[in-house]
Amino acid sequence: PTMMGQTTHGSGMMSRSTTSTKLATTPTASHKLALPPLLKPDRSDANAVSYTVTAQKGAMAFKDGRKTQTLGYNGNYLGPVLQVKQGQTLNITTKNQLNEATSFHWHGAVVPGEMDGGPHEPVAADATKQVSFKVTQPAATLWFHPHVMGSTAKQVYQGLTGLIYVNDQASQKLNLPHDYGKDDFPVIIQDRQFSAANQFDYDKAYSADGTTGPTLLMNGTLNPYVNVKTKLVRLRLVNGSNARNYHLTLSNQQAMQQIADDGGLLARPVAVKKLALAPGERAEVVVDTNKLAAGQPLAVMAGKQRVLQLRLAKHRRTSGQLPTKLATLPTVDTAGAQHQSLTFSGMGHMVAINDQTYSAKRIDLTAKVGQPQVWTLKNARGMMSGRSHPFHLHGVQFRILSINGKQPPANERGWKDTVDLASGSTVKIAFTFKNRGIYMYHCHNLEHEEQGMMGQIKVS
Ligand code: C2O
Ligand code: CU
Repeated sequence: PTMMGQTTHGSGMMSRSTTSTKLATTPTASHKLALPPLLKPDRSDANAVSYTVTAQKGAMAFKDGRKTQTLGYNGNYLGPVLQVKQGQTLNITTKNQLNEATSFHWHGAVVPGEMDGGPHEPVAADATKQVSFKVTQPAATLWFHPHVMGSTAKQVYQGLTGLIYVNDQASQKLNLPHDYGKDDFPVIIQDRQFSAANQFDYDKAYSADGTTGPTLLMNGTLNPYVNVKTKLVRLRLVNGSNARNYHLTLSNQQAMQQIADDGGLLARPVAVKKLALAPGERAEVVVDTNKLAAGQPLAVMAGKQRVLQLRLAKHRRTSGQLPTKLATLPTVDTAGAQHQSLTFSGMGHMVAINDQTYSAKRIDLTAKVGQPQVWTLKNARGMMSGRSHPFHLHGVQFRILSINGKQPPANERGWKDTVDLASGSTVKIAFTFKNRGIYMYHCHNLEHEEQGMMGQIKVS
């Protein structure tokens, strides 16, 4: 048996080689896109909503033949959608029914450090932990996944990923598609490698530079399609892959209208022909099918590979026009800011931030609640580079000030919690911590993270 945490595989430290496996051509779309269930609250009122989320083992028939051994939240694979309104307190009873430790990290949530579910808040096998925090941030598509040292990447790969939808009054008044599973679909994009026996053999698929696979699963569905019965369709795209970057397009070269970044709505819709999505990032887009005839082929593509087929019904309901104004984003306040800088370097087993790998015992940075932060993030170019590193920071949403000295593109001017650092690039971000605690920042290539491309900041 393979020992936990042992890495006898991977591509060797000095090889620059293979960054990711090639995606295989998908045959015709044959399965209806699975929809994560909307989780029923245990209790809810105007001020609070309570859920129970259980990490458990499962088995899934992704394809013909043997079932795949999986992990899931409240089910076999992936997890449900937790809904919460801005202003409500979110109470979650987290239960671990695995036979190893896990944790429940709320990616993108603005939370006090001890509720964040990072490596300092593990939940032992068979244990239960109560989590509670007030949701103050605007409407957004957030997600949750494990964050325990040594098994984050493997547990995510096996299926531990769920969604949190934050709703708010301002966005509810907008005329945006919001009918779950009718004109508003979550699309969690993951790549996997199936063994000959249909299993996710993480240790075999493993690469120290990022575990990838040739097979795409969307919400755990192979070759999915959705029936489109409205003129406007909203897709909440989530890159839930361990290490693969996607560049998404529509098969007819039409632009998508991006309406939200990781942490909320953009000021206005932005037409995007090619949407880059790094591990951990989310983007909400609206696809306008007004000018398309029924039966016309349409799909979301990743290069030549189909991510999701959109089957256009003959009579599609009109929900009117996409609003031209979506949200008022505050201007970024950097007065009196504390400046910090992080340099990401290396690949495979040699990754580091400011030349150090993660230590639970070391606090790397400090900050004060309420004091603006300006961080300069660099992806060093050098011998051991060539990889991009999707930077993610816990506990806050930030704004991008610049990418290589230039204004970020219009679709990256909203709230972000993850930003891809391309090789050799410099990205400046600004934000302000609202809560105290110890927070992680790391590369969201989960294998890089496990290899120690992570640090911690103490906010007091
Ligand atoms: Cu999505 Cu620190 O993680
Ligand atoms: Cu990385």
